[in-house]
Amino acid sequence: MTLNFKRINLGHFPTPIQFMENITKHLNGPKIYIKRDDCTGLATGGNKTRKLEYLMPEAIKNKASLIVTIGAVQSNHARQTAAACALLGLKCLIILEQRLNDAPLAYMNSGNVFLDKILGAEILMCPQDKNVEEFAKEIIEERKKNNEIPYFIPVGGSNEIGELGYVECIREIIENDTEKNFTHIVLASGSGGTHSGSIVGKNYYKSNMKILGISVKDTKIAQEEKVFNLAKKASQYIKCDEPIREEVVVFDNYVGDGYGIPTKGMKEAVKLLATKEAILLDPVYSGKCFDGLIDLVQKKYFNDNDKILFIHTGGSVSLHAYEWAFEDNK
Ligand SMILES: Cc1ncc(COP(=O)(O)O)c(C=O)c1O
Repeated sequence: MTLNFKRINLGHFPTPIQFMENITKHLNGPKIYIKRDDCTGLATGGNKTRKLEYLMPEAIKNKASLIVTIGAVQSNHARQTAAACALLGLKCLIILEQRLNDAPLAYMNSGNVFLDKILGAEILMCPQDKNVEEFAKEIIEERKKNNEIPYFIPVGGSNEIGELGYVECIREIIENDTEKNFTHIVLASGSGGTHSGSIVGKNYYKSNMKILGISVKDTKIAQEEKVFNLAKKASQYIKCDEPIREEVVVFDNYVGDGYGIPTKGMKEAVKLLATKEAILLDPVYSGKCFDGLIDLVQKKYFNDNDKILFIHTGGSVSLHAYEWAFEDNK
């Protein structure tokens, strides 16, 4: 019983689930599996492919000529939106917000920014003294005067439509989970749609898995509130029971000094997964998330017979924009 909402095929699904034998041995705790949403396709993959499969049909229904979205300079969401637009023959305008002080040149030009350009998107930098959402509204009004029909996708594609992608990811996990019986899902929680969609999916498809979000920006309270509100909205949208507040669990101990700012734990997590499993995480989301997972295992948050599914939400192309962060080898 899949969701009855328009979805277009932009990626490669189902994504594989792999047992991480070397990591499991190394951490000497519960079995750890990985859902390879870094392999969703659409210009190097990531979690946004799933969201865009529901968002782009809405844009087409609204007769959009121009897709407008916002994000941090190294936004994976912006790059994947640019890719979806390229595939569907739509113009794409990306408005980027500078969230790092003294950002190195590589951060400003390499990784996702380089790919945005190759994928044919127009890029605008939000002036430092402006709120990026307000700035986007101004630009959208300007473009309307130039006879464009803009369709705005919010940051991270996180609204009740984008969330459907992760409702369906949960169905995919359950259908492919023949005997693994995952007890927990661990994922990076940013704009919140991946996390909230997964909670809605778990309820809609009647699973007992616990969904744990590792915040990459906000405090536990703020992030839980955001995810809870998004989950309520999506539940209303698909007409299923709303989640209870206790189902939304966020850990905020792995953010470090702020969004996109490298941490020692993130670097260790990225190197550990690379050297043990030959899997590349990213510095902003999945790296901090995996750092959190390692710490939770070490603190005995899980039982040894739990089965953990880590969702790799993609983003490794931004490693190129963060080479400087790994140079000190600390
Ligand atoms: C690689 C990657 N992982 C995780 C996330 C977080 O997902 P969400 O914004 O749905 O919380 C993002 C968001 O941009 C991302 O790019």
